[in-house]
Amino acid sequence: MHFSASNAAATDISTQCLVLPVFKIHPQAPRQTPAFKQVDQALGGLLQRLLDNGDFPADTGSTLLLPEPQGIQAQRLLLIGLGDPENFSEPALRSAILAAFSAASKLAITEAAAAFTDPLLDDREPEWQARLCAENAVKASYRYTHGKSTAKESVTLASLTVLAAEGVATDRIDESLALGAGVGAGINFARELGNLPGNVLTPRYLAEQAVELGNNGALKVTVLGDDELEELGAGAILAVGKGSSEPSRLIVLEYQGAPDDQPPHVLVGKGITFDTGGISIKPSANMDEMRYDMGGAASVMGTFKTLLEVKPAINVVGIIASAENMPDGNALKPGDVITTLKGLTVEVLNTDAEGRLVLCDALTYAERFKPASVVDMATLTGAMVIALGGEASGVFSNDDGLAEELLEAADESWDRAWQLPIWDEYQKLLESNFADLANIGGRGAGAITAACFLSRFASDYRWAHLDIAGTAWDGKKGATGRPVGLLTQYLFDREAEGLDADQLGPLEEV
Ligand code: BES
Ligand code: MN
Ligand code: ZN
Repeated sequence: MHFSASNAAATDISTQCLVLPVFKIHPQAPRQTPAFKQVDQALGGLLQRLLDNGDFPADTGSTLLLPEPQGIQAQRLLLIGLGDPENFSEPALRSAILAAFSAASKLAITEAAAAFTDPLLDDREPEWQARLCAENAVKASYRYTHGKSTAKESVTLASLTVLAAEGVATDRIDESLALGAGVGAGINFARELGNLPGNVLTPRYLAEQAVELGNNGALKVTVLGDDELEELGAGAILAVGKGSSEPSRLIVLEYQGAPDDQPPHVLVGKGITFDTGGISIKPSANMDEMRYDMGGAASVMGTFKTLLEVKPAINVVGIIASAENMPDGNALKPGDVITTLKGLTVEVLNTDAEGRLVLCDALTYAERFKPASVVDMATLTGAMVIALGGEASGVFSNDDGLAEELLEAADESWDRAWQLPIWDEYQKLLESNFADLANIGGRGAGAITAACFLSRFASDYRWAHLDIAGTAWDGKKGATGRPVGLLTQYLFDREAEGLDADQLGPLEEV
């Protein structure tokens, strides 16, 4: 998708469709944007009449298409409701922009222009609004087509012009558009991987995708197969994959945007390409959804896609632990004791608690990078879905500062998250009579005991875990691409912090 900024007036821009935000009528404090006023005047007051007579009440996220408007250069006018100006807030703006581009992407147009950079919120810049437009336009363009032989060739929105409001520089808008488009592309890549069926997306396929991503940009990709994992001593990953005819993979991606001596931020992803539960087999209802048990891995891949497009000055390592969890004559059994890469032994009381097993070896592998931080993403527990549903990912951390950075990035990107504790009292639930620890706790606090298990393997660095079981998948829409928005924002924030520190360098010595 192509993006550009233009200084043209909303009334003068020649476009297949002009996207125009509209506030609801407010008797005491009426409010409309400069673009609205110009267009309304050029249309002889038509827009105000639509508001007055109730034909377009401008509820938040509502849309109305006016074909062939007379008096402006656009061939269509797409009105987007912003809701009540008095209660206008960032979530309202976000849902309006989302609605704008999902509506625009359904029209038979290849090109559009958006008048979304007039100031709408006190604490948000026009550039931020432009970034959000690009991100949402890219997200709205996503179509899942794999394996559909009857997929229709439809007209797709390929180009968007964002009108720079008066006094806003187009080059700054251009930069923001590139940023938003890069994040959107990362989210879409994660969605596509999450949606692909388990017979296509295997650990080997995931590794091939990583290699391909590396071929397209400045990325070093290393893939460890069963033999290398054996040699390494990654007994936990191998134990999970034992019951499958698909070999397991540990995939390492290295993005270098900063000098060598800057320690990397490491992202670790759970890549179970299908989770049957193994010998502790799951019930069959909705088991098809367990193809998204590689949502953590997908979010790592998606984040790297964004890194390659946006090229921030930061070092990032991705580690994906990928296996298929199947029941079989060779499969891991309840009661088996395995030796992890760290050397700790684990009594596997439930083979369906496999995510923490593949992750624990990946977390140990992360030590070699002497990381600035390690964040793992995993569709780890059903308990997380029960606790926070589809709104927020769970955050667990051994470092309150890191948790805070992630929660801030979650708020900033509206890819929301909420922190839960990993107190010592919960750690006790993992005690085992037959090994250093068991892979499950009791009935209660399932998301927390899973995080406690991981924490045992993450004692050597600042670490956080995101349980995305509820957020990576939407029962109706499929893979959501979360938490790519959160992770990319987190990394951009670390880059900004680094740049600030460089500038402050001499001061610190004083
Ligand atoms: N992949 C599942 C967790 C999951 C469940 C993700 C539902 C998304 C939706 C994970 O491997 C699992 O099976 N966890 C078990 C752990 C239990 C055996 C301690 C669970 O949550 O039931
Ligand atoms: Mn499982
Ligand atoms: Zn799983």
